[in-house]
Amino acid sequence: MGIRVEDTADWPAAHAIHAAAFRRTAEAELVRRLRDDGDLVLSLTAHADRPAGHIAFSRLLLHDAPALAGCALAPLAVMPEFQGQGIGSALVRQGLERLAEDGYDLVVVLGEPAYYRRFGFTPALASRLKTPYDGPYLQALALSEKGKVAHGPASYARAFAELK
Ligand SMILES: CC(C)(COP(=O)(O)OP(=O)(O)OC[C@H]1O[C@@H](n2cnc3c(N)ncnc32)[C@H](O)[C@@H]1OP(=O)(O)O)[C@@H](O)C(=O)NCCC(=O)NCCS
Repeated sequence: MGIRVEDTADWPAAHAIHAAAFRRTAEAELVRRLRDDGDLVLSLTAHADRPAGHIAFSRLLLHDAPALAGCALAPLAVMPEFQGQGIGSALVRQGLERLAEDGYDLVVVLGEPAYYRRFGFTPALASRLKTPYDGPYLQALALSEKGKVAHGPASYARAFAELK
């Protein structure tokens, strides 16, 4: 299994992965909109003998700390036949490593704490932010010292407002 930065040839596969994993097209469309709007910060594809997983990170604006570089992890999907083999975890870990190298301070995710806590995401850090997704499923991870003191209102990329 290999992981690489998405290129244009991966776009149809990324769409198919999200549609199959979520059993609807809303998340696949979210990726397309984020891409069209230029809001994707990092997008990775996992390949086994065929495309198996995809993860997207998009810009997050922290209004009270504009010098802080934030992003949102969403969506993440692995083809049903490839789930439970460590591909989702590898995509998250490699994404976080690349973002830290690129100078990002904070990553937020809306998802199952039972899954995301293994990467270090906590609801406690996220609870200091004000987002449309506040609650126990919103978690955050600091990639730098600055990220640990993130607080205040945060805006997701506009494509999220269209997600149903
Ligand atoms: C969630 C998902 C991306 C995980 O990818 P994966 O490659 O199957 O995950 P991994 O093999 O890296 O990890 C498997 C572990 O995740 C756990 N896990 C998978 N989905 C989970 C969920 N929804 N809630 C909690 N834990 C979950 C498994 O129980 C397993 O736990 P273990 O390591 O303790 O045995 C994948 O199952 C998927 O695409 N699901 C449908 C889409 C989705 O819900 N995406 C998440 C959006 S936030």
